[in-house]
Amino acid sequence: MPDEPADLSQQSIDRVVADALAAFAAAGTGAELKAARLAHSGEKSPLALANRAIGTLPGPERKDAGQRLGAARAGVQAALAAREAEIGAAELQQRLADERIDVTLPVELAPVGAPHPITALMELMEDVFVTMGWEIAEGPEAEGEWLNFDALNIGPDHPARGTTDTLFVAPVENHIVLRTHTSPVQIRTLLDRELPIYVVCPGKVYRADEFDATHVPVFHQIEGLCVDKGISLANLKGTLDHLARSMFGDDIETRMRPHYFPFTEPSAEVDLKCFVCHGESVGNPDRPCRTCKSQGWIEWGGCGVVNPRVLAACGIDTDVYSGFAFGMGIERTLMFRNNAADMRDMVEGDVRFSRSLKGMAR
Ligand code: PHE
Repeated sequence: MPDEPADLSQQSIDRVVADALAAFAAAGTGAELKAARLAHSGEKSPLALANRAIGTLPGPERKDAGQRLGAARAGVQAALAAREAEIGAAELQQRLADERIDVTLPVELAPVGAPHPITALMELMEDVFVTMGWEIAEGPEAEGEWLNFDALNIGPDHPARGTTDTLFVAPVENHIVLRTHTSPVQIRTLLDRELPIYVVCPGKVYRADEFDATHVPVFHQIEGLCVDKGISLANLKGTLDHLARSMFGDDIETRMRPHYFPFTEPSAEVDLKCFVCHGESVGNPDRPCRTCKSQGWIEWGGCGVVNPRVLAACGIDTDVYSGFAFGMGIERTLMFRNNAADMRDMVEGDVRFSRSLKGMAR
């Protein structure tokens, strides 16, 4: 850094000014210009020192030197400001060029998820009932063994109650199971709600099953329960047909095939006419159908008239009230309705599966 000013002669001032202007012109960046500014117009620059030296001059010379130095300093300030503006503009241009983006390039949009098809279908099935004025009922997934079995007339020796079929919450002596069906919600509803009852109970259920293309240990059911005066099997059939048409279209055919459930009497399984062969594979070895195994029908769910023992256990007068119940798997319904062949797709959480069925609910 230049130190003492040689003198306050015009010649000396001109040289100091020329040095300053040359240094500003040579600075190519903001940082370089800052260094040049400190050196040539900062507090310790020759001009600042010269300015301080003015005070030591005798009166007449002082005025003259003050004017010449003032003009020199103004010139240096102006040159500095001009160079600052130039460098600032150049640096801005450089930044704009560096940060330039091509807005016409294709962008990768943040991937948008999709509602899980099981959730979407469950809501769609709920809607069918809500539209008819039914209510939704829910219950816990870790359920009392009594509510899951005994209250449904499933006796202590029933094979389904074994640990090979049912998942118990340890310790077993606490009699808590992961519910094996949504039917315990029937009992909760019968105990809690006023008659008449029209409810659907959607939810997760658990069974000690293998995990393969047609079994998952955790799946979903929707169960319906109606208890009112004068309810018969005909009401059940009409309700199931309405649900089937809402799910599979007006052409779907259903049938009820006698079956046994401890909590309904009579009981049936409800089948759908095979939507692949429409029954044409039956007795027709040339055209076998894998979907219905050439039976013409596929099982959809269970149903029946509520066993009066179940109603009585919940304190309901079975001379006045009767009811029906049904239940089916959501996964099964999705398989039939949307040709989802492999249940593993439904649990793996790959958004492509969800997206492939997106909008299927509407
Ligand atoms: N709870 C039965 C099951 O999970 C289905 C069912 C519900 C059957 C209601 C009859 C009445 O298999």
